[in-house]
Amino acid sequence: MKTQKQLKNNTTLIIRSIKESDAQDLINLLNKMGGETDYLSFGKNGFPLSLEEEKILIKKQNETKNNLMLLAEINGKPVGSLSLFSAQKERTKHNGEFGIAVLKNYWGFGIAKLLMDEMINWAKSNGVTRRINLKVCVDNKKAVKLYEDFGFEIEGKLKREICIHGKFIDNYIMSLLIN
Ligand SMILES: CC(C)(COP(=O)(O)OP(=O)(O)OC[C@H]1O[C@@H](n2cnc3c(N)ncnc32)[C@H](O)[C@@H]1OP(=O)(O)O)[C@@H](O)C(=O)NCCC(=O)NCCS
Repeated sequence: MKTQKQLKNNTTLIIRSIKESDAQDLINLLNKMGGETDYLSFGKNGFPLSLEEEKILIKKQNETKNNLMLLAEINGKPVGSLSLFSAQKERTKHNGEFGIAVLKNYWGFGIAKLLMDEMINWAKSNGVTRRINLKVCVDNKKAVKLYEDFGFEIEGKLKREICIHGKFIDNYIMSLLIN
């Protein structure tokens, strides 16, 4: 999958599927984004997978119908990513959990909305996905609003889901049903 979009500031954004050869760029991106926010499950350089592990993960996910890994690029440079991972078990394969992040310098240009549009259109047509869920820190107002704008609903609160510098933070669990 590869698609070209115009951002609010008239820059061209490419959204495309992640390939095994993107593994190092993706790790670098995630490690950088981890240092720019307290709203991810890892901090600066805290992404837990090695290059080999990430390559295996990308290969494995790309062989399934119900997993998605997207990269957003400007002038060939990765600026954001989205992943949706689902189990392969018959009884739970319709259910995917997604995560999204954009480099801080590119916040507010509409990149997250374009990535989510792609994910939701893909989910509606992959023939498997019937529910998308995510966890989000309760004080991440911008992200909660973004998800609500796409029709996600808060299903409940997960207490002490994340611990940052010794402080526990509750998460919401949110979901969107795909009909
Ligand atoms: C949350 C995040 C992915 C949004 O990415 P983004 O590309 O900046 O988002 P967009 O430009 O597409 O904006 C989407 C919506 O977010 C909200 N938003 C964006 N910038 C905002 C700002 N400065 N203040 C308040 N709301 C804002 C708006 O609702 C916006 O929709 P609108 O343009 O229709 O008003 C990005 O800020 C990020 O990576 N944050 C750190 C990681 C994170 O929190 N990930 C989510 C974990 S659950």
